[in-house]
Amino acid sequence: MRSQKMSMLLCCVLLCSASLLYLGLSGIDCPPLDHGNRRTWADAHLGSTNQSQASSIFYGEDTPLIFIGGFPRSGTTLMRAMLDAHNAVRCGEETRVIPRLLAMRATWSRSARERVRLDEAGVTDQVLDSAVRAFLLEVIIGHGEPAARLCNKDPFALKSLTYLARIFPRAKFVLMLRDGRATVHSMISRKVTISGFDLTNYRDSLTKWSRAVESMYSQCLRAPQSSCLPVHYEQLVLHPEEEMRKLLSFLGLQWDPAVLHHEDLIGKAGGVSLSKVERSTDQVMNPVNTDALSKWVGHIPSDVLHEMDDVAPMLARLGYDPWANPPNYAQPDPILPSNNYTMFQRTADPPHPS
Ligand code: A3P
Repeated sequence: MRSQKMSMLLCCVLLCSASLLYLGLSGIDCPPLDHGNRRTWADAHLGSTNQSQASSIFYGEDTPLIFIGGFPRSGTTLMRAMLDAHNAVRCGEETRVIPRLLAMRATWSRSARERVRLDEAGVTDQVLDSAVRAFLLEVIIGHGEPAARLCNKDPFALKSLTYLARIFPRAKFVLMLRDGRATVHSMISRKVTISGFDLTNYRDSLTKWSRAVESMYSQCLRAPQSSCLPVHYEQLVLHPEEEMRKLLSFLGLQWDPAVLHHEDLIGKAGGVSLSKVERSTDQVMNPVNTDALSKWVGHIPSDVLHEMDDVAPMLARLGYDPWANPPNYAQPDPILPSNNYTMFQRTADPPHPS
């Protein structure tokens, strides 16, 4: 009888120990994989009282992010400020780290030798992509307010458009394009340094502008499911409503007239946050205007003007007449503020070099 009791007790102890061991082990299991990188902005950044506001917003691989880019000085900040004014969108200031990480990621794949070494170490493309995706999401989510649609504007991020489309298959891309003569003049006259560009040399800068834009434009045209929309700065400032309606429909967003008056929402909650250090802040504080369209006329050396089609072949490809100084960008909409655009339109073009 006594030995029966002892055996039952031992049995109970063993069962309890097994259960405790099982529970303990499952406690140190990895979290379920189906959650992946998904998290809510609220999880990460809001106190429990504010969580209801954003708790329904999930960000992950399938987040329909918006990436705005292009060559710097092409109206990228204006575009993001206009989108920031939309009640469902938040872009925010340039993060600066995103294009750097993307450039670094591109170098890891470029060298075959490095690729072999990484594969050998188990750092596969899949591992790297997952890490890059998590980094980008964390930065984009964390550097501003929550919103139904998050957007990023770092001009050179679109050098990696094809890659971004791979790691964020539902992302949409907005490529800002501008007459390269105006872009380069803006960069040189405002002394905006871009690494690799000689700010004293129009010829060199136009050549490099052409190459950089060629790469971004080709990727935009090849983007899967037509997920990239090229927007010409000139058309945006001349016909803001028409261009923004086209853009919002491309992004699957409802029309919001606030996008035409981004200046009214600067510094307001849910509105447009401007950086103290970005070079376009002074200009973007103004309503959309056409003042900058033809400021470049008269500043480009004549030897460069005479070879413009060779120096910057992308001008013609993007529809800008390389021989017209300035080209006729079109007539502005009547609601736009007064500007010096018509004055420049009357300036006689220099003769065709041929
Ligand atoms: P300029 O330097 O020729 O004046 P980015 O933000 O991509 O660097 O582009 C800067 C250009 O966008 C500047 O060109 C600037 O004038 C123009 N821009 C900024 N805000 C604008 C606005 N409210 N209306 C029209 N153009 C604007």
